[in-house]
Amino acid sequence: MTDHPASAPPAPKSGDLLALAVATARAAADLVRERSAGVVEVAATKSTATDVVTEADRDTEALIRQLITRERPEDAFFGEEGEETTGTSGVRWIVDPIDGTVNFLYGLPRYAVSIAAEYAGEVVAGAVIDVPAGTLYAAFRQPDGSVAAVRDGEPIAVRPPTELAQRLIATGFSYDAGLRRVQAEALVRLLPVVRDVRRIGSAALDICGVAEGTLDGYLEEGLHLWDHAAAGLVAEAAGARWEATTGIGGRRFVIVAPAHGYDELRKAAVQAGFLPVDSLPGVVPD
Ligand code: IPD
Ligand code: CA
Ligand code: CA
Repeated sequence: MTDHPASAPPAPKSGDLLALAVATARAAADLVRERSAGVVEVAATKSTATDVVTEADRDTEALIRQLITRERPEDAFFGEEGEETTGTSGVRWIVDPIDGTVNFLYGLPRYAVSIAAEYAGEVVAGAVIDVPAGTLYAAFRQPDGSVAAVRDGEPIAVRPPTELAQRLIATGFSYDAGLRRVQAEALVRLLPVVRDVRRIGSAALDICGVAEGTLDGYLEEGLHLWDHAAAGLVAEAAGARWEATTGIGGRRFVIVAPAHGYDELRKAAVQAGFLPVDSLPGVVPD
């Protein structure tokens, strides 16, 4: 028996999707690395004057689209820099060609390629490559629903439990000045109750940091699906819990923490004013 009608395309193997995501992310990372060696300039601005795009962002997304479409022309594609296209297979690729573009622009070595594959609305495979370091984070959902994650082929796990006051929390700031004010005000209330805060500049690497245990948690409002789709699966597989919901500013808010410390961090996020008191998971703006 199958869950799909006879006419529906067969469900893909998430291991095959992961293999394509990894091979494509490696090729994309090579291109980004090559471009980082030259002069990096702003090609255009997007939502605000600080939301920049470089030619490398555009060319890398075009390469990713070309490599994936060549192998799986029937899939949908949703990337940060290009037109969204629909497909017929039930698979959608969710791509951020360079997560951490401002770091890339300034030569700060914290930026990543992020590629996720979603089937029937659920992310089933994800690859994130830390481009300057060359580290690959990869995860896929097995047919029984369990998830496995590796960093350069080795298993990874979240940090052990620790009290909130001892936790190192990453965050980020929106390109929107109004939302930044809200974020800064909430941070004033969060900072005194945790060990410290990091603003690394790549949401995908922040979330992979929670997965590998170099961070105790991450929260940020104003993300898009392409920022967290692949890394969220990596984090889940490594023992984290994550949620995308609506933040106090009305935009997509993402919070990630080891499962054992998740409720406490979420409560602190509400108390600090990142989240409305009655926020519910599942109501997620773009
Ligand atoms: C940004 C980075 C940054 C986060 C921003 C994202 P981009 O992605 O992930 O860390 O704070 O919210 O938009 O623009 O470099 O792809
Ligand atoms: Ca991004
Ligand atoms: Ca980007």
